[in-house]
Amino acid sequence: PATRLWGGRFASGPAEAVAALSRSVQFDWRLAPYDIRQTGAHARVLHRAGLLTDDELARVEQALEELARAVVAGEVVPAPEDEDVHTAVERELLARLGPLGGKLRAGRSRNDQVATDFRLYLRDQARGIAADVVALQLALLDQAERHVDTPAPGFTHLQHAQPVSFGHELAKHVHALARDLDRFRDWDARAAVSPLGAGALAGSSLPLDPEAVAVELGFDRAAANSIDAVSDRDFVAEFLFCAAMLGVHLSRLGEEYCLWASTEFGWVRLDDAYATGSSIMPQKKNPDVAELVRGKAGRLIGHLTGLLATLKGLPFAYNRDLQEDKEPVFDAVEQLRLVLPALTGMVATSTFDVERMAAAAPLGFALATDVAEWLVRRGVPFREAHEIAGVCVQECEKRGIDLAELSDDDLRAISPHLSPEVRAVLSVSGALASRSALGGTAPERVREQLRALRERVRED
Ligand code: ARG
Repeated sequence: PATRLWGGRFASGPAEAVAALSRSVQFDWRLAPYDIRQTGAHARVLHRAGLLTDDELARVEQALEELARAVVAGEVVPAPEDEDVHTAVERELLARLGPLGGKLRAGRSRNDQVATDFRLYLRDQARGIAADVVALQLALLDQAERHVDTPAPGFTHLQHAQPVSFGHELAKHVHALARDLDRFRDWDARAAVSPLGAGALAGSSLPLDPEAVAVELGFDRAAANSIDAVSDRDFVAEFLFCAAMLGVHLSRLGEEYCLWASTEFGWVRLDDAYATGSSIMPQKKNPDVAELVRGKAGRLIGHLTGLLATLKGLPFAYNRDLQEDKEPVFDAVEQLRLVLPALTGMVATSTFDVERMAAAAPLGFALATDVAEWLVRRGVPFREAHEIAGVCVQECEKRGIDLAELSDDDLRAISPHLSPEVRAVLSVSGALASRSALGGTAPERVREQLRALRERVRED
């Protein structure tokens, strides 16, 4: 017969369809190590309250230790009839401890248990994800440092805009990821609240010690309101936002890789270990890693919006709807931990076609802004300078030539402000070097930026 945690007032067990609907152990078994840890902390509180003898506590602690080891080793798995992880853990403890195993639920409800397990799990996972993000940052930084002096077209609207240092372009992703790490850290500070002791919703008449449990489990404090403690899922939604935002950043990097790897761009060569082929077209080498990264972002966004929809109408304290919070989060965590190492490997092993990027950098009249700014330095109002540089572009486009190819007479004819000296700014390296204020793309600035970023990533 199934070991249920709530049989007493029922004449029969649940219908098979209800048991199947209700069951969560197939996914919440991941929480078992946390449920076991939590049970240890709770046992010590019961002992201090005089509800467990010294000998009972020692037996409980030993059983928990054994069980924890067996769970990690995969020797203990849930039984098909276990409703959830809490049921499975109690069944295992009953098997090891007999009736003593039945003392450990005193003062606890699955409502505060599951909220506690879930916070412990997510706080751990956030650290794992952060480590994976740092590895990606380091791979991007290595590439960025290699390409500080590689000029590349910079884009707005996916049109050539102004040349940039390719190291600058890559470093931008490291900044975005640094903000993602900040977000997970900020989240962690808010998630560091222990719900244990809230019971079902109202706390317990037993002399528990929520503060002591909170400290033992690594939380900053215990929840101040038992109803909030069991019904709050902000920490889940916020985690999913952090995950989705990270996913969106990874997706944008992935999209750039897809473009760079196209024949039209031809900027990047993917290592064979980080590309895939076609089952019909023998020549194909596809950037599937980048595409999957991009695809996963949709899934992560869906998890966030799905959970918010689940939460929006929930009254009072715990409602069973809240069981729906787990699968999307487990999936979000697992997808990120799948995607990040693959992306890191792809970035670390890719090689860039420096000549091709440099050759493309001035195309599309990308130095027209430099002409306008040259005029500004000679006192021409920018409004007029913009017009003059625009006429230069129009003239070049008409004749199929580049800005540097306009003759002295052409320049004079376009504007009396223009003179042959303007050609001095019509070089990509000059254009890069001149953007030397803080945050600019001048290689010297980019080198400084990368040094600071490396320092920051080291501290993370
Ligand atoms: N499996 C449940 C969840 O994930 C645990 C809490 C169940 N509580 C209850 N009163 N049925 O939310």
